[in-house]
Amino acid sequence: MTAIGDSTVHDPDALRADMVRALRDQDAITSEPVAAAFAKVPRHRFAPDAPLELAYDLHRTVPVKKDELGLDISVMSAAHLQGVMLEQADIEPGMKVLEIGSGGYNAALIQELVGSDGAVTTVDIDRDIVDRARLCLDDAGYGQVKTVVADGEAGVPDGAPYDRIIVTAAAWDIPPSWISELAAKGRLVVPLTVRGTTRSIAFDRDGEGLVSDSYRLARFVPMQGEGAAKERKALLRDGVAVQTEDVRVPLNTEALNRALDTPRLEFWSGAAYDLPDELELYLTLHLSRPARLHASRDIVENGLVEASALLGVPALVSEDSIAYRTRRENEDTDGFESGVVAHGPQAEALADQYLNLLRHWAQDHRRRGAATIRYLPGTAPSPLPQNTVLKRHGIVTVTWH
Ligand SMILES: C[S@@+](CC[C@H](N)C(=O)[O-])C[C@H]1O[C@@H](n2cnc3c(N)ncnc32)[C@H](O)[C@@H]1O
Repeated sequence: MTAIGDSTVHDPDALRADMVRALRDQDAITSEPVAAAFAKVPRHRFAPDAPLELAYDLHRTVPVKKDELGLDISVMSAAHLQGVMLEQADIEPGMKVLEIGSGGYNAALIQELVGSDGAVTTVDIDRDIVDRARLCLDDAGYGQVKTVVADGEAGVPDGAPYDRIIVTAAAWDIPPSWISELAAKGRLVVPLTVRGTTRSIAFDRDGEGLVSDSYRLARFVPMQGEGAAKERKALLRDGVAVQTEDVRVPLNTEALNRALDTPRLEFWSGAAYDLPDELELYLTLHLSRPARLHASRDIVENGLVEASALLGVPALVSEDSIAYRTRRENEDTDGFESGVVAHGPQAEALADQYLNLLRHWAQDHRRRGAATIRYLPGTAPSPLPQNTVLKRHGIVTVTWH
């Protein structure tokens, strides 16, 4: 649990004041209106069954509903992430806001931000979640928030256009409704999954499409319904999996598993390793056949796969070989140096391509916020331009400056 001060755990008001202070200290809250909203809305009233310390923890979610495998399908999002996203959204009094993915608490924060002249609609695909959100909202004095049961893939046409659309489940794509229901000067804040990693991205309109310079790593429960992610996954062996959304990437389970038993080759780039989220965005957009390698703690502890794969690491795969990023301490490269581990008959060729990207990023793009992310709806150009990811309803393009 994140420590949020010395307040007695029985006093929700003191815990809330501590939470706001800590969110400011950690730069999740950077504006007065967002701080005031967090200070006012009684967060624990939206998590009535959770211990107060959990309800007011900065980084932990509060479970609301699980699927038959015990995986979360609805949670009250972590306060830190909610702060970051509300700052990205830049909500003003009087605005009309649509939240996709309900729970009640975030909608109440938004209601505070838009004030009595604004309007908030929150939609969830799950009736249980909407019923629960409705009860909590009414109980906490936010009866004016409108709740809707529907698949958010279609937005909520009744009420459009919205000045802000805030999505609170991990979206694999941006359906046409989210763009058409956005006001001319509107902003869409969406945790968009691109090549296996989800980032909260604040998009503004840009001609027919959307553009963003604001992106932050984010973890969310997955979007259900029409827009659910369609990724391919291959379990190579217990505790090792490869996943990709790129149709051009071969996922030959047997050959990749055999590759892991071939000698492990290690190569060092001589380049600095830091800002992992920035580097990862660059890598996944530039690797010619990008995938993500995941390994369990057991597998890492017995030395088969590097610790970089514990949370998933960008990997370059061919029919029978795999290469992925690692790091080591090196004072000559500002603390850490990036490197590549590769297995299989084409290990050296894959490692070579990977090392070039590590060096290029460190030399030209190693800073926070170096990328601009664009979403262009419609038919994808053929061939697909470099730095571009094909989605169902359009393409994501990332450029570095
Ligand atoms: C992280 S929870 C929302 C948290 C909430 N905004 C809060 O105040 O903390 C994500 C929600 O998205 C919902 N969801 C998933 N897919 C959806 C879809 N296609 N349309 C609408 N809601 C969806 C889930 O049912 C879940 O309740």
